[in-house]
Parts: sequence; structure tokens; C-alpha cells
Amino acid sequence: MTAKPLPAWRKEFLPLARPTLGEEEIQEVVETLRSGWLTTGPKVERFEGRFKEYLGIQEAVAVSSGSAGLHLALLAAGVGAGDEVITTSMSFAATANAIVLCGAKPIFADCDPDTLNIDLRGVEARITEKTKAIVPVHFAGQSCAMDELMEIARRRAVPLIEDAAHALGTEYKGRKIGALGDMAVFSFHPIKTITTGEGGMVVTSNKEWAERMRLLRFHGISTSAWQRHAGGGSAQYSIQLPGFKYTMMDIQAAIGIHQMDKLDRFVERRAALAGLYCRAFKEIKGARPLGLVSYPQRHAWHIFVVQLELEKLTIDRDRFLDLLKERNIGSGIHFPALHLQPYYQEKWGYRSGDFPNAERASERIVSLPLFPTMSEQDVQDVMWAVGEILARHLR
Ligand SMILES: Cc1ncc(COP(=O)(O)O)c(C=O)c1O
Repeated sequence: MTAKPLPAWRKEFLPLARPTLGEEEIQEVVETLRSGWLTTGPKVERFEGRFKEYLGIQEAVAVSSGSAGLHLALLAAGVGAGDEVITTSMSFAATANAIVLCGAKPIFADCDPDTLNIDLRGVEARITEKTKAIVPVHFAGQSCAMDELMEIARRRAVPLIEDAAHALGTEYKGRKIGALGDMAVFSFHPIKTITTGEGGMVVTSNKEWAERMRLLRFHGISTSAWQRHAGGGSAQYSIQLPGFKYTMMDIQAAIGIHQMDKLDRFVERRAALAGLYCRAFKEIKGARPLGLVSYPQRHAWHIFVVQLELEKLTIDRDRFLDLLKERNIGSGIHFPALHLQPYYQEKWGYRSGDFPNAERASERIVSLPLFPTMSEQDVQDVMWAVGEILARHLR
């Protein structure tokens, strides 16, 4: 059989994601470069202020990445050696690594097979006397069941620290993610809903935790370089505890300030494109998008994930990704289950078979291109490629 020719319009590679940056961001970065102050200073403060205003929350601590934010949030909540922290196996390395880096044991729970959000019964079943925090992930930008999670956390008196790396702009029952739990951590990696190049933000209404994170993000030193060196500050400083270098630069915050102004528009555009995908998938055999939760929410559509129905296909997921690439379509895998990774098996004794939903999803998930500047034609190109590959490989 001769291969069907590719449509003439898809000559250029369509990436999985692309940041949306305008003149405003460029001008602010240039102004920062000219200002003489590049690292943590007035722009970081402005970005934190903008974030607090958006979420209606008291404290926002800007950091060098979402990963750094998770580490600091757990440390601020007092997680340390001998503690246990419950999280989902269906997440990025950073979620579980942060727990280990605090000296604690990562206790995985399975995910829901359709939404890939953490399984509530799994959380409840894994709580012990040693549990020091619960870390759910709002997978792909879809809100976890916050009422139930907060109820479990309150009943057991452990903090709920949300990995909200995918969930800036997400709402749960009309309230913004970040304004509900004890702490939430956002990421501004270029694939995320807004970017600062690299960067993250931890939000909380607990002043004490915020103060601790501010200390820990800069070597445990009580005054920032900006406070010391901007006109009139004292050059003296003292080290309160051994901290990290997890600060955000003003160059990064300069981008973030303007990205915040565009956030709601980005989410709307992502939702419109995701709507086109969902409609198109109704006509397709062999793959289906993740399920939507039944409670009211605003989905931030950080990524558009589908699960291949491998039982109906003659190829596996990795071959499917190769065929997409041959058709100039980028893709991703969010995520290979954490409990199947060599480190988590060798060090913490997790085994294949422990979390069947996460394992099943790991083999079937594909993230398709989704970013605000994508055109409707781009979505059609992706769907042409997906439809053609699946049709050719149905059993
Ligand atoms: C669920 C999740 N948590 C944490 C992170 C870490 O964020 P960052 O890349 O900003 O360190 C990511 C990044 O992709 C993520 O997907």
C-alpha cells in the first residue's frame, strides 16, 4: 500500500508548546537590563504583588522554579527526616523528588483512570501517624476535588500543599486554585500557562511559612541583597539557618508581570482550542481525551492529553509518537508513572502492579500541541495526523 501524501500545509514542525511573548515583555526585560538591577529586587516584588492580587491571597514567594517552590513549601511546613508525604504517582519528577530532598518518604497513591487526578480513597488509605503533608497535583490544569481533600487534611491535621504547576488560572467551584489549600506551588517553565523562562511561586495565607520560605530561598539570610544595597540599606547581614539559592531574578519577573495581564486570555484561548480537539475526537476511534470532572471548575488546559485505546490498535504509544513526528507534529508524555522509575523502585521498594491506573495511563497517554498562538488550522493538522495514524492501525 502506498502512503497517503501529507497535506501540503504541514511543512513546518508544530511543537508541543510555545510561549506567547509580546512587546510588553520584551520592553520590560530591556528596561530591567538597563536599570542596573538584574537579580531579586523591585520587579520580583511587583510580580509577587500582581500574583497576590490575582489570587486574593496574603503571601506570594517568588522562586527560581516550581521544583524549588515545592522543596521550600515542604520544608516550611516542617517536613523532614522520618516523615511521610502522600502524593500521586502520576506526576513529574519534581513532585516526588522534593519530598525525598526533605528527607521524607514519598507515599504514592494511584490516580483516577479518566482524569488522572489523585485517587481520594488512595490518599485516605495511606495516611499514618507519620504523614506530614498531602501533595495533590491538579493534573493538566483540571482541579482536584478540593472539598474532599481539604476535609481529609483537616480531619488528620496535616497541611494540603497543592502542586499547582499546571493550574494557574484553574478554578474550583468558582474559587481560584491557590486561594483554597494551605499552600500552592506554581511553575513558569516555558511550557506552562504563563512563563518567566524558568521560575515558580509559592502562595499561602500563613505568614510564618512565607517568612520561612523567604529565608530559605536566599541562604537563610534575613535581608535580601536589594534591601542591603538599594540606597540607604545596611550592608550587614546574619545567617539564620542553612538555606538555598532559590531566588527569582528581576529579569524573569519582568516577563511575568506582563504574562499575568494576559493569563485569563491565554486560558480562554487554550479552552477554545481544547474544545476543538474534544469535538474532533468524537469522530475518532482508537483514542480519547482525558475525562472531565463532574463538579464546577475552570480547566486551565495546561496540556491536552489523550489516552490511546491500545486494545484496538496494532501499534504501541511510542510508535504512535514516532508516526506523529514523521507528520511534523510534536507531542509529549505527561507522565511516566513515578513508582515505576528505577530510583523509586530501588530506594523505596515500589513495584510494577502497585498502582494499576497510573501504570495503564503511563503506557497510553499522549500530550498533543496546545498553546495560545496555535491556529484552528494547526488543530486540524494534528487531528488529520492523529486520525490517519489511528485509522491505519486499528485492529
Ligand atoms: C506537576 C509538576 N510539578 C512540578 C513541576 C516543576 O516545575 P519547574 O519545571 O518550574 O521546576 C512540573 C514541571 O513541569 C510539573 O509538571
